[in-house]
Amino acid sequence: MTGRRFTRLALAASMLAAWSAAGQAQQVRDDEAVARGKAKYEHTCAPCHGRGAGDDGRVMLPGTAALAIKYRGELPPALEDRQGLTADTIRAFVRNGSFSMPPFRPTELTDREIDDIAAYLAVSSSAAAAGSQR
Ligand code: HEC
Repeated sequence: MTGRRFTRLALAASMLAAWSAAGQAQQVRDDEAVARGKAKYEHTCAPCHGRGAGDDGRVMLPGTAALAIKYRGELPPALEDRQGLTADTIRAFVRNGSFSMPPFRPTELTDREIDDIAAYLAVSSSAAAAGSQR
């Protein structure tokens, strides 16, 4: 092997190592965002948007109920089962509110927390879709 070719190979290997380390670090950050988003969603959104019974065990979920009427079965009523909800879409509803959904100010819910919720909803809805294909 010529020295030059070896240098190129070594360079490629070290780039690969750096790339996969960066990938792992990114994955850890993503997992943390999803975990934070899940906690925030469960506390702030699920009382209205949950899949099952409400806080007190009774089914009183105005968000899920309103979206069931709005989409008439064309889209899943629970946000955790909805695919393709971007952070921008979520932000628009969260900042402005919609009918009986109240708006949230940045002091109540930061932009980063909305991004975290979007990360969680993307993961939960793809898991739900994978489950329904079984
Ligand atoms: C007090 C109850 C309530 C809370 C809390 C609430 N929502 Fe809602 N949300 C609603 C209702 C009701 C609607 C449906 C409004 C309508 O009919 O257009 C809605 C609609 C939405 C929509 C629009 C979906 C669509 O396709 O039209 C999004 C996105 C959304 N909510 C996200 C959130 C997120 C994220 C949170 C938590 C930060 C949250 N909501 C908290 C009641 C709530």
